Amino acid sequence: MSIRLGVAPDAALLAEAVAAEFLRLASEAIARHGAFRVSLAGGETPRTAYERIAATWRKAPGGAIPWDRVHLYWSDERMVPRDDPRSNFGMARAALISRVPIPAENVHPVGIDAANPGAAAADYEQTLRAAFAGESKALPRFDLILLGMGADGHTASLFPGAPLLDEQARLALAARHPETGEPRVTLTLPVINNAAATIVIASGGAKTAMLDRAVRGTGRREGEPLLPIERLRPASGILLWMADAAAAPWAASLVYRVTTYC
Ligand code: 6PG
Repeated sequence: MSIRLGVAPDAALLAEAVAAEFLRLASEAIARHGAFRVSLAGGETPRTAYERIAATWRKAPGGAIPWDRVHLYWSDERMVPRDDPRSNFGMARAALISRVPIPAENVHPVGIDAANPGAAAADYEQTLRAAFAGESKALPRFDLILLGMGADGHTASLFPGAPLLDEQARLALAARHPETGEPRVTLTLPVINNAAATIVIASGGAKTAMLDRAVRGTGRREGEPLLPIERLRPASGILLWMADAAAAPWAASLVYRVTTYC
């Protein structure tokens, strides 16, 4: 599998680069099939990229983005109120949704049910099945899935050792943060690996070792179970790793397929 890695000098330029890729993929998807269905990453890293999308969408390569053709979903969500600072929806609403003319009916947040995240996951699965009902395949095929990565190798709310990593049928499942016990809902690997494009965003020195392992296999021991981030294997889509220099200082040694965003 060829490595597609983009490295920006710093976090601000990484956000610009992610925004540019988002807008490029949006323009292409809308030109190709009239819509852009994207699953947003949670956590803190994507915030600035969402702000840059909101600031630059009028100058997208294919012209201003027609937001009525864009549908937003989430790769995972914490079962907290939407105005809680931990909410992935809340972060995207502040950084992107409140700043662009996207119709409310095009925004598809995960339902919040802290007492029964399994029900919230089943409900979200129905939302996905209805939204992608016209597709020939059973699995939804997002035009883009954005993901972050934890230093422990988790992505979305797929944590190391979780049984749901082996799920093959469900599209979304309840999850629990291994340290805080926080209830969550996450997309499953079959959906994630069926995307036309997946972008993993990593910023900062805390992610250096895990990104090196995920991208180049550095430090992985023979026979060790693959971490969630290592199980990103798009069936037929592209997987693009996008990092700043702090997260990928080792990239300078790669002699191929490294795009440097200046
Ligand atoms: C979440 C995310 C999670 C996140 C990583 C990185 O809801 O927490 O989906 O997978 O992307 O933990 O988080 P940071 O961007 O805050 O480092």
